Parts: sequence; C-alpha cells; structure tokens
Amino acid sequence: MSLSRRNWLKASSLFTASLGLNRWNTAQAAVPQAPALTTNAFTKEHMVMPPGTAKLRARLLANENPLGIAPSAKKAIIDSASSGNRYAWSEFGPLKKLIADKEGVKPEHILMSPGSSDMLLAAAEHFAKGGGTILTCRPTYEDLLKKSTLFGATVKSLPLTKEYKFDLPAIQAAITPDVKLVYIVNPNNPTGTILSPAELETFCRAVAPKVPVFIDEAYIDFLTPADRPMLGKLVAEGLNIIQARTFSKIHGFAGLRLGYAIAQPAMLESMHQYIGAEHDVSITTLMAGTASYQDMAWQDHCRAENAKARDFTVKALTDMGYEVIPSYANFMLFPIRMKSKAFSEQMFAQGIGIQTRDIDGQPFCRVSIGTMEEMGMFVDSFKKVVG
Ligand SMILES: Cc1ncc(COP(=O)(O)O)c(C=O)c1O
Repeated sequence: MSLSRRNWLKASSLFTASLGLNRWNTAQAAVPQAPALTTNAFTKEHMVMPPGTAKLRARLLANENPLGIAPSAKKAIIDSASSGNRYAWSEFGPLKKLIADKEGVKPEHILMSPGSSDMLLAAAEHFAKGGGTILTCRPTYEDLLKKSTLFGATVKSLPLTKEYKFDLPAIQAAITPDVKLVYIVNPNNPTGTILSPAELETFCRAVAPKVPVFIDEAYIDFLTPADRPMLGKLVAEGLNIIQARTFSKIHGFAGLRLGYAIAQPAMLESMHQYIGAEHDVSITTLMAGTASYQDMAWQDHCRAENAKARDFTVKALTDMGYEVIPSYANFMLFPIRMKSKAFSEQMFAQGIGIQTRDIDGQPFCRVSIGTMEEMGMFVDSFKKVVG
C-alpha cells in the first residue's frame, strides 16, 4: 500500500469537502497537492510539551516501550544495585560476547554507550569536523545531521522514494569527493519504512569502500528475521560501515540508557575520543541490558504487542479515511487535515501526547505505538479533535 497520487487527491478532496464541518478553522491550511514526503523540503517538527505537572493519559510521542522493562532486567538492577559504587569494566565482556555472536563480529567491533545518541554525536564530530558533506535522504531522524552542521559540515539531503524509503540508487549517484559520510536510518524515523536486506547489503558493498556508511538501526528489533538486515558480516569482512543500536526501544531502556555501535575497531577508537562511551554506562544498566538481551520471550512479547496495537490503529485510521504510511516500527506517520499546532494542542489537551511534522507544508501526525488501551484512547481523542 502506498499513498498514491490518486488516493492523495481523494484525501485532499475529502479534506476540502469537510472544511465547512470542521470545528477548527483550517481554511488557511494548505491543501496538499501531492505526496509531500517525496520532496526534499525542510521538515518542521512540532511537539507541545505540557507544563511539568501535566499528566498525559497516553504518552505516544517518543517511541518508548509502553510495556516497560523486562522483569528479568528489573531483577538484574536490584541484584547489581549494591555494585553501584563501581565503574563497569570487565562486566562489558559477557554482553559484548552475546552481541558479537549474534551479529557475526568480534567483541572488538563493539563499543557500548549510554544510548545510541552518543554514537550519533561521536560520528557527527568525527566526520563533520573540518567541513565536507553528509549525504542522506529526508525526512529522517535529524540528530546526527543537526550536529554535523554544528561541527562544520553541510548536509545534502535527497528525497525519499515514492514509497517513502531511503533512495539508495540516488544516494549512490550523488556521491562526490566531498562526501564524508552517508547516513541511513532503517527502519526510518518518522516514516517507519524499511529497506530490503538484500538492497542494503548491495548498497553497502558498493559504497562503503569509497565512503563510510552509518546505518542507524534504532528500530531494528521490531523487524521479523526475514526483514532484518544482518550487516555484521560486512563489518567482519572489513567494510567501513557503522551500525548504531539502542536498548531504548524494544528493551524499554530509554531512561536507563544503553546503546552500542558495531564498526571497525579503528573507527570505534576514533569515535570514542569524542564521547564518554563505556565509561558513562552504569553497572546497573549494563547488568539489566545483559539480562534483557537474553530474554527472547520478553522481546517477542513486546514485538507482538506492538504489531497488534499498530494494526488496530492503522485499521481505525483507515476506516476514518486516513492513509497511514505502512510502518515496521513502533510509531506511524500519516497526513492530517488540520494545522499541526492546533492538532497537537488539542490532542495534548485530551491527555494524548503525539508529535507532528510539517513536510512541504502538509501536516502529519507521528504517533508512537502504545498499549492497546492507549491506542484506543488515541483513536477516541483523535475522533474528537478532528471533528
Ligand atoms: C532513529 C533514531 N536513532 C537514534 C535515537 C536515539 O535513541 P537513544 O539515544 O535513546 O538510543 C532515536 C531516538 O528516538 C531514533 O529515533
């Protein structure tokens, strides 16, 4: 399924036709002309943060795991709490070994950190210092790109394909001598779309010998084995790719903070200069991560619950005439028919936290997948807000 031009125009005319009935004045909102995501304009993110004490009924704005952390991870935290006076050191060994065995690399190909944001920062500083170009597609996750600009690089972004995926052939064709890094997000945030393992591998084999490829795989754990690229073997072969991973999503560690990069040891050493990396990971988090990584039952449970709540929400929105970009992650993106700010404020007023994006002037809602109960609340509030 894709938001074809025909369907888009249908949605637009429904939008236009419903203008008179809407509770909010959307008359000045731009009527979408085309599937806006395929263009390459600046994406404006909008998120209303409620005042400190405001309580959300459903917090669907940061792609967190609504089910919490695994009971096995909780136990590991309690068991290791009394070691909190120690730096984590040799304790990294078991987790690195587990990851290395799963990914087909050696432990020295892995650097751990408190979340993958540190790896994005390290890569931005490493590659952007002294200028050059970071090549990517947009809309995507902006963190590494924004930081690269701060460190002196220029970001060159190409449009996503009409299926809202990274356009690998276009990226390959756009590589020039000034390109320092290619940045890919798979599954992509905010679209939730994925690249096929075969096309990504072919791309990495062709590009990485010329330019390093950074693949942000924050949402990779939501994929089934068939959709999941196993790029570790390319690292093991010596290719210059950097995979960034996080425990923030399926493991529910957004607040505990744990992530890692898989790359060539020399690359990890260079990146490590810019961040605290392993020195900044607490021993309790590390022990919890080691337990959670081995807890396949918990991960399967979270993946299945996410898929169930995602399917429910897609169906509810589709039944209301909205077209959702097919998502493989724990969030989804779809065009809305009122202005982002008003939509966001009205949803927060209902106690539902979401994010919006303005892409080429077309407002979109990005909603994280919560529990079934939370998604029911989201749908009910959505109906009230859009009228
Ligand atoms: C694509 C992507 N990469 C990286 C991150 C950073 O996550 P963390 O620092 O929690 O590992 C996020 C967070 O939402 C993300 O969406």
